[in-house]
Amino acid sequence: MKPLLHHPSSSIILSFFCFTLLMISIIDIPTCMCDDGDKYTNCNTAFTCEGSSIANSLKYPFWGVNREKYCGGSADSKTKLTCEDKVLKITINSVTYRILEWDDSIAQKLTVARDDYWNDICTTSDNHKNSTFDNTLFQRDVGGSGSANLTLLYDCNTKLPNMFYSATCNNNIKVVYTLGDAASITCVPTLIVGFPITGVQVAQLLTQNDVNQALEGGFDLKWNGNYTQCQVCIASHGACGNDKGKFRCFCDDGAHTTSCYSQMAPSSMSITFYITNSKFVSTTSNNRV
Ligand SMILES: *[C@@H]1O[C@H](CO)[C@@H](O)[C@H](O)[C@H]1NC(C)=O
Ligand SMILES: *[C@@H]1O[C@H](CO)[C@@H](O)[C@H](O)[C@H]1NC(C)=O
Ligand SMILES: *[C@@H]1O[C@H](CO)[C@@H](O)[C@H](O)[C@H]1NC(C)=O
Repeated sequence: MKPLLHHPSSSIILSFFCFTLLMISIIDIPTCMCDDGDKYTNCNTAFTCEGSSIANSLKYPFWGVNREKYCGGSADSKTKLTCEDKVLKITINSVTYRILEWDDSIAQKLTVARDDYWNDICTTSDNHKNSTFDNTLFQRDVGGSGSANLTLLYDCNTKLPNMFYSATCNNNIKVVYTLGDAASITCVPTLIVGFPITGVQVAQLLTQNDVNQALEGGFDLKWNGNYTQCQVCIASHGACGNDKGKFRCFCDDGAHTTSCYSQMAPSSMSITFYITNSKFVSTTSNNRV
């Protein structure tokens, strides 16, 4: 550093360096300056969401609230949960769902219901998107469960064809719904929203005609990740997580690749940067070997 300070532009270089450091510390938010023991403790802790009856059964592949990003099943926000009004929620393709159930077995089944239509199809939010899923992460668990697509059509003033039903709203909004082909109606609805519902809800809807109840029952999604991998880790007393998307089994003694008995994972939590024109090279690292 010494010779650098005698250089006429050294203060510029120095302030550039400080600025760079500042930018890195701002940009690199996910970098956790904690050791792997903390990771084990954090990822081994279920969700905290006061008033939610299922929060304490939810861990991997989900992160968010009190669980750090490295406790998730991927390095992005797709398995991030939030806790709002005592309910854990997940946002998929910009639509927010309430998590009703999580089957922690090999089924990896998440039961969710639309938050914006929860208990009330008569008030519509600004978010009128159909429920669609990214098949790489979550898949509609159709596996012979008799699930169907329920379509709501708003402001449809026409004689209802077969398989179309009208819902009762106290306000002036007119809603009709169908489990069949929505395109077969002759009117032009102001809004068409599609939702999957489970076979149980289909049967209920056909007998009781309660569309709100059908939507509250939600539907099932299957997480496409490898949960067997996590079960192997848990069986070895580890906690599942990831390091930049790669599966990690966090144990008392650090991060392992598959289980606490497997080899230690290489640590990748280092930032190396170079400012070549000032010949200044810095490496920061929080590696624990
Ligand atoms: C939702 O689905 C309906 C029925 O398939 C379709 O007509 C409509 O355009 C879709 N809306 C959006 C926003 O994708
Ligand atoms: C429901 O709609 C989705 C997406 O449009 C489609 O892939 C699926 O096959 C439909 N399911 C049924 C049971 O009609
Ligand atoms: C899932 O993980 C297990 C255990 O690590 C492994 O044996 C299996 O091949 C993996 N399955 C897939 C589909 O990657």
